Amino acid sequence: PLVVVLAGGLSHERDVSLRSGRRVAEALRSTGLEAVLHDVDADLLAFLRDARPDVVWPLLHGASGEDGSVRDVLDMLGLPYVGTGPRASRVVWNKPISKAALLDAGLSTPDYVTLPQSLFRDLGAQPVLDTIVRRLGLPLVVKPTEGGSALGVTMVSRAEELPRAMVECFAYGETALIERAVTGVELAVSVIDGPRGPEALPAVEIVADGGYDYAARYVAGETEFFAPARLTAEQAAQVSDVAVRAHVALHLRHLSRTDLILDASGTAQILEVNVAPGMTEMSLLPQAVAASGRDLAALYRTVVDTALA
Ligand code: DAL
Ligand code: MG
Repeated sequence: PLVVVLAGGLSHERDVSLRSGRRVAEALRSTGLEAVLHDVDADLLAFLRDARPDVVWPLLHGASGEDGSVRDVLDMLGLPYVGTGPRASRVVWNKPISKAALLDAGLSTPDYVTLPQSLFRDLGAQPVLDTIVRRLGLPLVVKPTEGGSALGVTMVSRAEELPRAMVECFAYGETALIERAVTGVELAVSVIDGPRGPEALPAVEIVADGGYDYAARYVAGETEFFAPARLTAEQAAQVSDVAVRAHVALHLRHLSRTDLILDASGTAQILEVNVAPGMTEMSLLPQAVAASGRDLAALYRTVVDTALA
């Protein structure tokens, strides 16, 4: 069968997506599959018509890749693809909407407020920020409601830093999510749909002294990872359970990655869930697969076979 890996595109995460796409296509080829990488542009429909793939792996990060729109196109064309469908992708892509869905499912996520730029302007920046600090305390994390790879995200420990963080955030989107910063162990838990249902891979622990920002994610040596994470058996079981529950509650398919902080009280606070987790050489899901002792290429092949079935 022919697999088309869709990557690149025009999002802020274009380069990351190309890195992910190249590695996945290479891994699939090593299992004997025909796999081609397509850098997504305006000719997507014509390309898919001509290429006639048996299955598509949308590895676009950011915007149209994760917000469901490319998956809508694949559904319209009747093409099977790896990963979550468009409706669930839309919920996951928007952080406040997915946080609400996680809370409804009985899972925990840091306290937050959502602030559109228009409201921020109309109510006056300073009174709004003062109110938010009174309500959530400090430190805070300011992030665009939609986006990935920590772009536009700022950790704010002093109230004076907030206005600048808002400007940075609004450069990436119309609406800001302002979250209480939770301290604890930062973890990423990947989930794969296996023959017996969704299974969590070993948690990966992230230790980034300067924060897990874009450089910390993609420049070798900037971040220390522990795969598996340094957890007790009980904690490992707990975070696995939380990630599987998030995967099920949000209707995710084939694979996902839940990013969370295990806080001082032992609560797993979900930061976000990803429908197109990074697959670069530095990314968390491939590290989790390695920690599980499974072969990465074989696992990707299984995922493709599941999507084809
Ligand atoms: N948004 C990046 C690709 C990730 O979640 O890994
Ligand atoms: Mg993300």
